[in-house]
Amino acid sequence: MVSGIIFAALLATVSAVLEDGQFQPDRNFDPNSVAAYEDVLYGPAGPSYPEAVAQVEADISAEEQQQMPTSAGRERSGASLAVSKPLGEVSAVAIGKEGTVIAFHRGDRTWNDKSFSTEYKFNPALGPIKNSTIYVIDAATGTVVAEHGENRFYMPHGLTVDKQGNVWVTDVGSHQVHKLDGKTFEPVLSLGEKLVPGSDDGHFCQPTDVAVSADGRFAFVADGYCGSRVVKFDAKTGKLLEQFGSPDTAYPAEAGEFFVPHSLTLIEDLNLLCVADRENERIQCFAAGLAAGHRQQAPTGMFVTKAENIGRVYAIRERRHYLVGVTGADAEGLEPQMFMMDMDTGKAETFAKGLDGHALAIDDTGMVYVARMHPNEIVQIQI
Ligand SMILES: *[C@@H]1O[C@H](CO)[C@@H](O)[C@H](O)[C@H]1NC(C)=O
Repeated sequence: MVSGIIFAALLATVSAVLEDGQFQPDRNFDPNSVAAYEDVLYGPAGPSYPEAVAQVEADISAEEQQQMPTSAGRERSGASLAVSKPLGEVSAVAIGKEGTVIAFHRGDRTWNDKSFSTEYKFNPALGPIKNSTIYVIDAATGTVVAEHGENRFYMPHGLTVDKQGNVWVTDVGSHQVHKLDGKTFEPVLSLGEKLVPGSDDGHFCQPTDVAVSADGRFAFVADGYCGSRVVKFDAKTGKLLEQFGSPDTAYPAEAGEFFVPHSLTLIEDLNLLCVADRENERIQCFAAGLAAGHRQQAPTGMFVTKAENIGRVYAIRERRHYLVGVTGADAEGLEPQMFMMDMDTGKAETFAKGLDGHALAIDDTGMVYVARMHPNEIVQIQI
């Protein structure tokens, strides 16, 4: 009874939120579904994890299949940020300190058929990109206030800022992941052997993205274009802790199989790690193993839920249980789009049709920054 009233009130709130365009998604929670997770995550009295997973599947997956893809909902058009210096292909963007965004771009380099050998070795004739590849940009004016990463990166890809302010980058050219100090942008940790592709504990194959837990303990790496796994590291020491995932063996692919895992995001309080499984045109979410003390039954990499047939998902990021993603065109003529999915209900909506991005970031006000290639730009969209 009481929950029915709350639910009705929430529905009213949701439509108000949609109309005025404010980003207040915490008002959009279904408290019952959040509690269902939290009992499992943090309370001894909750159902067992497998029971809760079954519940999550029942709650979310059927809805997702009905709701995605959709062209309904709010249409939004973005504005290109007038960046004060030349941008190459913008492979990633993240929210920096004090009203800045941090862009990772390829300077004069483009990814073409000369970039890699058939064994994924980077063309040694090219060397590192001379341009500065990291811009710290005033998000209000577009002025580049600092630049970094000259002569260091071969083919910039992912960039993530962790809660401690460290900047994590992936370089698909060198097959490495670097944790950069947030002030100096110098590497404090490097993972993978430079310019040597591989799939063992010491190598990556074109790693695409990093997600870091809020406490700074764990870093997850999506690996990558020529790998089909997610690797979990101790974010301070770089020690490999766990890994999961394998290449497709079937069509449609099985749970836990990846065909270009291209982007990662953690939904910390649900203990979920979601993976943009790009060429399988789906998002898969797994137990992240963040609260190990409470979660003996939930090993890292245990499949939890998925959203399928959503187009080639290039990037996903999460804020307050809202998963925002961008997709590219696919061979069947699906249009690129930006979508937002409520993780508590599984409902998704398109709100920027035709926008194809390579990466995205969301600030605390709900401004989304989309990194694009051709044109090389950063688009701002308020959700
Ligand atoms: C890269 O550096 C070259 C040489 O300094 C410069 O002409 C060019 O504008 C730079 N390009 C980008 C995209 O930064």
